[in-house]
Amino acid sequence: MDVIKHIEQILGRAMSEITVSPCPTKLASALNYAVFPGGARVRPKLVMAVAQACADASAPLAHQAAVAIEFLHCASLVQDDLACFDDSAMRRGKPTLHRAYDERLAILASDALIVGAFERISSVKNVDAATQLALINVLSHQVGAIHGITAGQAWECEDLIDTDAYHRAKTGALFAAATQAGALSVGSDDKPWAVIGHLVGSAYQIADDIHDVLGDSSEMGKPVNVDATHDRPNYVHDLGVDHSVEKLKRLIQQVIDSVPDCKNADFFIETIRHEAHRFLPKEVALSAA
Ligand code: IPE
Ligand code: IPE
Ligand code: MG
Ligand code: MG
Repeated sequence: MDVIKHIEQILGRAMSEITVSPCPTKLASALNYAVFPGGARVRPKLVMAVAQACADASAPLAHQAAVAIEFLHCASLVQDDLACFDDSAMRRGKPTLHRAYDERLAILASDALIVGAFERISSVKNVDAATQLALINVLSHQVGAIHGITAGQAWECEDLIDTDAYHRAKTGALFAAATQAGALSVGSDDKPWAVIGHLVGSAYQIADDIHDVLGDSSEMGKPVNVDATHDRPNYVHDLGVDHSVEKLKRLIQQVIDSVPDCKNADFFIETIRHEAHRFLPKEVALSAA
């Protein structure tokens, strides 16, 4: 089955489990609104690609890790759009959750997705308990207050932003969680994959920054120029478009060079090449080809 269809199917199944009665109706509806329809689903795809590279993406823990990572990502977007963060009106081509529902349901839906992410991993039956614990540790590390998304978003509350730490925590951490989870879920060493996750995350952040400066809001389904509006770090503001694209291409090459010896390394490299072309903004695709 096509990987995106498969991801939508396992997300749908997981969502029906966390929204079942007696979950309050509006919360259930807000949860579905936060997750469907999705965006690029790039993080769960990465979980599956690493699991497949190391062994076999059909492992139940790989599926639940993919769901958990997407839940955490969707929760982070709901919070990011709130008036007290980016104050965004549109996400994935529709009104942001707090505008379509209200702030209370946005906060509660993101809470439920974060907790639900960990439950996805802990509730898988008949698997190695040490592996489950390792997965939970990785997710905690990559969403927490020191190195994770929480730290990343919190840099925006500081008077001076450490740009590298900001991007590494805000975006890189969840990509590292995805690659690490893919490896761990099939019993492989996650250390080389953590490095790869951060490299992919940096490349993705540069692509997002280029989109923020050059992209079209209706095409992307979210506002543009947000970084300039909020005076946030943006690679294009610092390096210009051409150097940002060069840096992105270098990072993709570093990803490819860092793939460890594993069962299906060629498959992973092919997937990364394909995805990199997809997330390279079309405004610059020709000059970067
Ligand atoms: C948006 O992530 C936030 C960033 C870290 C750049 P995505 O671009 O992956 O968002 P969706 O899931 O496709 O909507
Ligand atoms: C998204 O960050 C939220 C997280 C990565 C936690 P941004 O604010 O940079 O991304 P968009 O442009 O709203 O998707
Ligand atoms: Mg933001
Ligand atoms: Mg934002």
